[in-house]
Amino acid sequence: MQSPFWNVNRPAAVPADINVPKTAAETASTTSRLMEVLDSNNHGNVHGGVIMRMVDESAAIVAIKHSRRPVVTKRIDQFTFIAPAYIGDVVHIHCQMNYVGRTSMEVGVEVMAESLGTGELRRICSSQVVYVALDENRQPTPVPPLQATTPEEHNRIQRAKAKRDRILQLEKELDAEFK
Ligand SMILES: CC(C)(COP(=O)(O)OP(=O)(O)OC[C@H]1O[C@@H](n2cnc3c(N)ncnc32)[C@H](O)[C@@H]1OP(=O)(O)O)[C@@H](O)C(=O)NCCC(=O)NCCS
Repeated sequence: MQSPFWNVNRPAAVPADINVPKTAAETASTTSRLMEVLDSNNHGNVHGGVIMRMVDESAAIVAIKHSRRPVVTKRIDQFTFIAPAYIGDVVHIHCQMNYVGRTSMEVGVEVMAESLGTGELRRICSSQVVYVALDENRQPTPVPPLQATTPEEHNRIQRAKAKRDRILQLEKELDAEFK
């Protein structure tokens, strides 16, 4: 694959060794950004699409750190906004790996808004984003397994796997019914 111009001065990526498991702590990432006027909708709240884009970008960091590969977004799970974020708030996107399959990775995302004047934190939404790692031919390629370091992490991985299996099954049934 030819390097695009923005990669010219960057060292070549070294794909992660798929025989060496990684922990969620190794790749967890938080992105924070002050919300400005250009992030606003007509009511002065932060536009939902701004948050969705931040979530996709922030969660991708986790998947790239895990695989050290280019990744593409395969699925974004439910996106229910519980509370608004306002212009002048700092939006924090906390992301950590929930589950890793053979080529796919599910990143759990928690979005918080911080009112800078008071320090008050509000939960805005949570979601899960699934990425697939790609090889040089843009085909899905294996990634390292996810290693649990505590019983809680083990449970989180099992729950994410059970949910993923149900969603894939449901998608198959809906495809068959409504095609
Ligand atoms: C990502 C892509 C290359 C995968 O192709 P594919 O034919 O689905 O590949 P596979 O069937 O081998 O599936 C790859 C992985 O995705 C998983 N997957 C497939 N469909 C899925 C779904 N609906 N939800 C979650 N995971 C899914 C598979 O289980 C597999 O994971 P595993 O290897 O961990 O078991 C292809 O779908 C693609 O290019 N999609 C567009 C991506 C993109 O452009 N995103 C940005 C949107 S603008």
